[in-house]
Amino acid sequence: MKKILVTGGAGFIGSNFVQMVLSEYHDCFLVNLDKLTYAGNLENLSSFADNPNYKFIKGDICDSKLVCDIMDEYKIEAIVNFAAESHVDRSITGPKIFIDTNVNGTLTLLEAARDRDIERFVQISTDEVYGSLELSGGQFTEDTPISPNSPYSASKAASDHLVKAFGHTWGLKYNITRCSNNYGQYQFPEKMIPLMINNALNDKELPVYGDGLYVRDWLYVYDHCTAIWKVLTDAEPGQIYNIGGCNEKSNLEVVDIILKRLGKPKSLIKHVKDRPGHDRRYAIDATKIITELGWKPSVTFEQGIIKTIDWYLENTKWLENIVSGDYQKYYQQMYDARQ
Ligand code: NAD
Ligand code: TYD
Repeated sequence: MKKILVTGGAGFIGSNFVQMVLSEYHDCFLVNLDKLTYAGNLENLSSFADNPNYKFIKGDICDSKLVCDIMDEYKIEAIVNFAAESHVDRSITGPKIFIDTNVNGTLTLLEAARDRDIERFVQISTDEVYGSLELSGGQFTEDTPISPNSPYSASKAASDHLVKAFGHTWGLKYNITRCSNNYGQYQFPEKMIPLMINNALNDKELPVYGDGLYVRDWLYVYDHCTAIWKVLTDAEPGQIYNIGGCNEKSNLEVVDIILKRLGKPKSLIKHVKDRPGHDRRYAIDATKIITELGWKPSVTFEQGIIKTIDWYLENTKWLENIVSGDYQKYYQQMYDARQ
């Protein structure tokens, strides 16, 4: 049985990954270490809480003793590190926690992994470490120079460099995955797609930053999880893989699709003050993972966004539970600052 430590498994992508592995790979034991920040939500995994192949531990990846105790007690063979502060806007208003978790937390995990010579360390990174592309430019490949623009992407780039350095210096067997923007079930509504769905459902304005012509390459979260699994199980150590959905869309195009599906008017769109340093475009060249590991996305954006909107429609209670907490205060502050 493969024993895997998943960090940040109560967040958006992590919880989808835990669900996929426990449902599809019955020879794995997963320990989920998550601090349960505002973004962590055990409701995402409630149907797996009693699964004999799963153990949840509340804790911080910066806590070296806890990490080492878990590694030893559960004889961990691989780590998949999802745990992070993940929102660009929050990194602009308060960058320090991004360094604490994304850099120092990753360092803590790396030291524990190195000292135990585990089979694999998979770092879940982002295409944002490459910086921004022109609207008419090419795509990011694995050889694109690292050039982050936000405190969030700078912290992720720093952790990528640390992971590589541990491989180079101590022979740590690692992989780094750099994905584009994910969307799908269980995404916290501070991110664009669930935020717009939630606002549209409540007939509230949809705050589009600046001209709305910023482009993201949308990746359905389940497809991201299958790619991570391929990397974890099939990749050579030391390899970096870009993961993208081949679904470039401007923010206005995405908002338009959401409004149409929900039967809401375009008049809900409100252009608001832009994000400082807003990256114009991200686009992934995923040739390497497709040709080397045989991965491919299972849905187009048009299929995935319908599944996603329908999931939020069927799970209004999940959204309500979040929106009724601290979220409202956060949202109002962000919204007011953009007027
Ligand atoms: P998320 O914010 O939804 O979840 C992050 C999880 O990490 C939460 O459960 C949180 O409680 C946990 N966490 C935060 N700090 C922690 C700490 N110090 N110790 C333990 N747990 C902690 O994030 P997500 O969208 O699921 O992203 C997961 C990973 O994927 C991140 O590393 C992110 O940088 C990367 N990524 C995300 C996207 C995206 O579109 N969402 C795109 C590219 C890369
Ligand atoms: P986001 O989901 O925050 O992801 P990222 O910044 O990591 O790409 O934002 C996606 C795009 O949507 C980005 O161009 C910013 C834009 N956006 C809005 O226009 N309005 C919003 O309320 C939010 C949260 C994002």
